[in-house]
Amino acid sequence: MGFWSREVRRQAARVLDLREDERLLIIGGGTGMELEHLPVWVGGDGVDLSGGMLERAHWRRAELGMHNLDLRMMDARTLDFPDEGFEAVYLPLILTVVEDGGRVFAEAARVAARKGGHLPPR
Ligand SMILES: C[S@@+](CC[C@H](N)C(=O)[O-])C[C@H]1O[C@@H](n2cnc3c(N)ncnc32)[C@H](O)[C@@H]1O
Repeated sequence: MGFWSREVRRQAARVLDLREDERLLIIGGGTGMELEHLPVWVGGDGVDLSGGMLERAHWRRAELGMHNLDLRMMDARTLDFPDEGFEAVYLPLILTVVEDGGRVFAEAARVAARKGGHLPPR
């Protein structure tokens, strides 16, 4: 499981192929296990519904020195972000576990910038 999940996160980060001027939204980031595979300068937001998960993600983000990424509690079914606010939206291992995955995906599409925005497969 450890090897598999690291490989999936590594591949997703490669697909994201972020530029420094792009804002990223991570939906359902959990304890932040994907963070170490992203560039340290990445800017944007990460949301999760669980306070316990976020607590560990805050610790991990600090360890990695990712100061441009905000982490906060939010329900992915009702994202409190404007339309087209992010160049990239990342849903790491969440769509298969979240209640109402269709709605979460629709919200992800809503906040992804139409021009050049992309949603990697995982
Ligand atoms: C399988 S875990 C994946 C966590 C992390 N992305 C990873 O790869 O380790 C799914 C995550 O989705 C979060 N989650 C579930 N429903 C959610 C919702 N409605 N809004 C935001 N996060 C949610 C859970 O709290 C959990 O952290």
